[in-house]
Amino acid sequence: MTNGTPEKEDDMATAAALAKQRTDEWEEVHKVVPWGSVPDHNFQKFVESRWGGLNLRSASFLDLGCGAGAQAIWLAERGYHVTAVDASRAAIERLLERTGRIDTTMPISLMTVTADVRDVSFGDAKFDCVFDVCCLQHIEEDAAVAVVQRARQWLKPGGVFWSKQAIAPFDHTLNRVSYIRPATMESLRRMFVGYAEVKMDMLREIVRGDKNLWSVIVQARVGL
Ligand SMILES: C[S@@+](CC[C@H](N)C(=O)[O-])C[C@H]1O[C@@H](n2cnc3c(N)ncnc32)[C@H](O)[C@@H]1O
Repeated sequence: MTNGTPEKEDDMATAAALAKQRTDEWEEVHKVVPWGSVPDHNFQKFVESRWGGLNLRSASFLDLGCGAGAQAIWLAERGYHVTAVDASRAAIERLLERTGRIDTTMPISLMTVTADVRDVSFGDAKFDCVFDVCCLQHIEEDAAVAVVQRARQWLKPGGVFWSKQAIAPFDHTLNRVSYIRPATMESLRRMFVGYAEVKMDMLREIVRGDKNLWSVIVQARVGL
């Protein structure tokens, strides 16, 4: 039994088909492109400054749209607990392949989940940090807002949502898939409303030779 009008149900079916088409595109990308294995420098700085010097390696992280594990593997190698989610099976396979090559005497704590970030839930699990390095920019604004809002329940008191998202002006030749939604102040406001403290930094990087990539980095803390 459904409770929507036929028009609304058609719209929902179309949106679901589109969402699937977009994650399928990522699957094709990950099958052919060995996706990045170098962690984001700003994310590394954030982790090191917050947890690095304090022997707090028991901190736990949730990586939304982990790809081949650039950040997830870097964290796990350092002794942090990581749960890494990606909708692409090929991405998770690449991550696991790379994990198998880690040379460490300590067992690593890295759990993978092949799932759409719009659908995941974590029961009672709580993380010190939930992060997104350029995943939410590939899903529609309402869905991204819903994920960031749900993440408030996945964070421990005082935990942080860290996010890097493309922002205008965006050079579309940089995109590997058909859909990208550069962030706007309004989309960011909607995502992070209700977080106790929100800090944003703009960032310009030169990528693929001479192309400008503008991003916003958000650090949003939940209350204690
Ligand atoms: C730009 S890549 C970034 C990958 C990784 N965070 C990194 O820094 O290398 C975006 C990632 O988000 C994943 N992705 C896109 N839409 C997704 C969704 N709805 N649910 C889960 N993962 C998704 C893609 O498969 C891809 O791995």
